[in-house]
Order: sequence, then structure tokens, then C-alpha cells
Amino acid sequence: MIFRQLFDRESCTYTYVLGDESVGQAALVDTVREHVARDLELLDQLGLRLAAVVETHVHADHVTGAGELRRRTGATCHVPRLGGAPCADVPVGDGDIVRVGAIALRVLATPGHTNGCVSYLVSMGEAAADRVLTGDALLVRGCGRTDFQEGDSGKLWDSVHGRLFALPDATLVYPAHDYKGMTVSTIGEEKRYNPRLGGTRTRPEFIQLMAALDLPPPAKIAEALPANRACGDAGDGP
Ligand SMILES: [Fe+2]
Repeated sequence: MIFRQLFDRESCTYTYVLGDESVGQAALVDTVREHVARDLELLDQLGLRLAAVVETHVHADHVTGAGELRRRTGATCHVPRLGGAPCADVPVGDGDIVRVGAIALRVLATPGHTNGCVSYLVSMGEAAADRVLTGDALLVRGCGRTDFQEGDSGKLWDSVHGRLFALPDATLVYPAHDYKGMTVSTIGEEKRYNPRLGGTRTRPEFIQLMAALDLPPPAKIAEALPANRACGDAGDGP
């Protein structure tokens, strides 16, 4: 089994490669349009054919490579049903499973950053701890913002505490972004050390903290939202 974490410096986005060598197939999760060539070259070198392009949510900070990857490879696009992206070949919702070879990505609805956000619990048929791709619901020692795109900090708290923190402590946490150079965490670590959602934090404290962040809007939001509702095939770009 192949698991790779790729990075986009501009938007600090992680793209994940999940590959099953025995069938020569792969999924890419949360791609970035500017890196389509990089991603396809890597898959080629690894002997993998792209079968599924998967999104954790409709992103506001970068444009997905999903549409271009679909055109170039015939892969299917899996986008959360509640994300408002009619371009999806397969709209996914809580409990659905995306399968690529022996790899299973089980959808966990984790709304709050956006209403359509999902996480994917990845099982690669190995003895190692499961991985969860948390999108922007849970970041390493942080979380996605909740001040646009139907964001709701109460919902995000409930998603993290009710769904993600219910996973075994050893589950590896792979987020959609990192801004400080962190790459991976575990559910147990985030329960203890996440400064917004872990430790002794309470739900009302979290809601208050998120309301006070006062962040500027993402630079690319005006381009990214309409483009991503079309799987990246809109706005200025290829
Ligand atoms: Fe996001």
C-alpha cells in the first residue's frame, strides 16, 4: 500500500495519495489545480492509475485539480453531497465508502468549517493504525475557521468531539492544511493538546474563541468557491 502526503506552498494544502499496488489504482484527496502535472507524474512513477479524485469539502482558498484530473484520466470525482458541487460524479455522505482496490475511505460527516465538510477514515488493510483525513475540521493543534461558507463553530465542536474524538486514540490525523510545518498527529494527541478543542476547553469557550478570531477573508475565495463547485473547471485557469 502506498500513502503519500504532498504539499502546496501557496495555500499550505496537503494532497494525499492512497494507492493499492496490487491493482495499480490510486485515489487523490484534496488536489490543487496548479499541481495536476506533479500528481500525475508521481502516480505514473509509482505505477498507479488514478481511479478516484476525492474532496473533503468545497475549498475557499485554492482551486481543485479534480476536473482536469478527471478529464485526463477518466477518474471519478467524489465530493460531499452537502457541498453544493453539482460537478460530482459521486456525491458522498455519512457512512458511504469510497473503495480503490483494497483501500476503503469511510465518510464521516464532520460539518462546522463548512456545512458539507466530511472526513475520511482510511483503512488500507494493514495492521498499522487507521488514518483519518480530517479536511479542515481538525488540523494539527488547530481547526478550520467557521466565519464563512455556512461555518458554524457549535457544529464544528460537535463534529470533532462526537465523531473524530470518538475514534481510537492511536488513529493518525492527516489534515487538509498546515501553516506551521506540522504534518501528522493522532486523535489522542489532539484530545490532549489541541488548544482550541482539546484539554479542558468547553463548547461555549470554543464558540467564543472562534467568534473573536477576526480573520481577513481568504485571498482566493471569490475565484475558488465558484470554481470548486464546478470541480475546478471554472474561473481563470486551464
Ligand atoms: Fe477549507
